[in-house]
Order: sequence, then C-alpha cells, then structure tokens
Amino acid sequence: MLDATLSQLDREARARIAGAATPEELEAVRVEALGRKGTLAQISKQLGGLPAEERARVGKLLNAVKQALEEALQARKAQFEKEALAARLDSEWLDLSLPAPGPRPGSLHPVTQIQAEIEDLFTSLGFAVLDGPEVETEYHNFDALNTPPEHPARDMQDTFWLVDGHVLRTHTSPVQVRGMETLKPPLRMIAPGRVFRNEEVDASHEHTFYQLEGMMIDREVSVAHVIYFMKTLLKGIFRREVTVRLRPGYFPFVEPGFELDIHCLICGGAGCPVCKQGGWVELLPCGLVHPNVLRTSGIDPEEWNGFAFGLGLTRLAMMRYGIDDIRWFQSGDLRFLKQF
Ligand code: FA5
Repeated sequence: MLDATLSQLDREARARIAGAATPEELEAVRVEALGRKGTLAQISKQLGGLPAEERARVGKLLNAVKQALEEALQARKAQFEKEALAARLDSEWLDLSLPAPGPRPGSLHPVTQIQAEIEDLFTSLGFAVLDGPEVETEYHNFDALNTPPEHPARDMQDTFWLVDGHVLRTHTSPVQVRGMETLKPPLRMIAPGRVFRNEEVDASHEHTFYQLEGMMIDREVSVAHVIYFMKTLLKGIFRREVTVRLRPGYFPFVEPGFELDIHCLICGGAGCPVCKQGGWVELLPCGLVHPNVLRTSGIDPEEWNGFAFGLGLTRLAMMRYGIDDIRWFQSGDLRFLKQF
C-alpha cells in the first residue's frame, strides 16, 4: 500500500518538476513533496506501524524516492540558474573587441580660429600683431582718432562710459593710436580684440563682439593698396571669390573713408534677418588715415600716409560658417561649439 503511494508520489513529483515553469513553481513542488509537512514526511510517519522487516524495506524505498526527487529538483534548479545566467549575459553583452572611446578633444572657438588665420596671413605680409586694453582712455578711443568731445561722430557708437575718462573700448581703432605711439613709420600692424557697445542685440548685433584692426603707414599709400589688402584678406578667409561692394563711408579718422560690404552668404543675397533683408552685410570699413590722426600721434602727414581698416571679426565668422544669429557665439552652448 505504501509502496504504491511512494511510486505515485515519485511519478507525479518528477512530472511536476520537469514541467515547472519558474523557480517559484519548483519550490512549491519541493515543499509539497519533501517539506516538513510534505507527502514524504506523512508517509514516513506511517512507517512505525509496519512490521520490522517491512519497515526496513519500505524505509529504504522511501529514502531512494527522496534522494531521486532531491536530485531531480537540484537538476531542474541548476537548469533555471543556467537559463537566468544566459539571459543576463545576453542582455549585458559587451563587445570587448571594440576600440575604446578616445578622449574628446576640445576645439578653438570659431572666432579664435578665424583670428588665427588672419594673423597668419598678415604676419606673412610683414604686419605685426598688437594688443591693447579693453578698458581704454577716452583719449585713445576718441580724441586721438580725430573725434574730440563735442564731435557729433562720438554718437556713432553707443558707448559704455566708465569713470575717470575711461570707456569700454567701442572699437579696436585705439590700438592704431597705441601702435603709432610705439612704432616708428613705416609700420604695418593688425590688432584683433574684443569691443563693447551699449546697443540693442539682434541677429547681427551684439553688445560684445570682436573686431580686427589693421593699419599700414608708409610713403605714397593709396586706395589701390586698401583694395588689394582687403581682397587678399577676403580671399584668404573664404578661399573663393566673394562679391563685395565698396561705397563711401564716413569715419572721422579716415579720409576718404569706405564701407566694404559683402554679399550676404547666409541668404545668398535674397534677404534675411542677418542682412536686414538688404542682401549685403557691413563687414569691413576702411580708408586712408586722416592727417589729423597721424599728426596727433607725432607722425608727419607731409611725409607719411597710410590706410586703416576695422574688420567685424564676429560677422566674418558668421559669413564663413553660415551662422544665422550672432548670439550663438557667446551663448556657451556646447551643441554649437562642438561643430568647430
Ligand atoms: C568701426 O568700428 C571703425 N573703428 C572701423 C574702421 C577702422 C573704419 C579703421 C575705418 C578705419 P563700425 O562701427 O562700422 O566701424 O564697426 C566695424 C565693423 O564691426 C562693422 O562693419 C561690423 O562688421 C562690426 N560691428 C559693428 N557693430 C557691431 C555689433 N553690434 N555686433 C557685431 N558686429 C558689429
């Protein structure tokens, strides 16, 4: 009688072990069959009522079933663990043969890149690169540039006035004056730098932007020299012919003065917010240095003359890289900066 119960238990439990779909189901089978209150425990309680010989025989059989079920449980459990490991390895698979990602190199700001290119170009043409202070004296920013205190041209640039006769320089032209004070003619210099204007910001106007000043003082400098150097500059930067126009422009420190505009490269001249729908972008004012400016800095205008220009460096970067809003340059936005 107990024999039959044992072999039924053996059969059924093995089938359930084999069919268990989860470790939890397997554990339930184990508890039911082999647990403290499980079927085998019940059967072993009944052994006491059997005659001694029969008890020994059935006891042996019970142990054999118990051992067989434990082994089957163990084997199924090992199978579950193997499957779980395989699933984990599948989901956490790493291709160890892939090359490691290298360090991400930084890059120079686009304005710095263009500035470096122009510096290379002009040093190869014999120009020195000068630096000047951003907090400038009113004298160097205006007076020495033929713009005395009551001169209406002082209103041409919206100025951040500081105390004690100082301003945040509104242009790089004061470095011309500093150049003439320290270098003797003939001289050739450029001066890149940051300038400040108290004006409304829009797609093509910043309150803080970059210019690059250039000046050449020699004997018999003419407008032809201005045009030659400006063309060389633009060809070097754009590496192709770009359409420019030269029109008269007034600046108190040059005579004659010109505005060199470039055909807007953002819209191809069709009109956009950068060129204020006009198709042209003001980029490069220039002219022959006014005799008063030379005289003020101790250079005799009877013997020497020269040209000067004041390139809008940030605007040039806009045209070169096709950037349709000047505000990107100082946004600090890495998505923008990573492109260069
Ligand atoms: C000047 O600053 C003169 N010092 C240039 C000069 C030098 C003329 C030597 C003659 C001889 P202007 O204010 O036009 O000029 O500025 C020069 C260039 O700076 C402009 O053509 C433009 O490209 C750029 N610029 C002017 N204002 C802004 C601004 N708010 N934001 C960005 N770029 C500007």
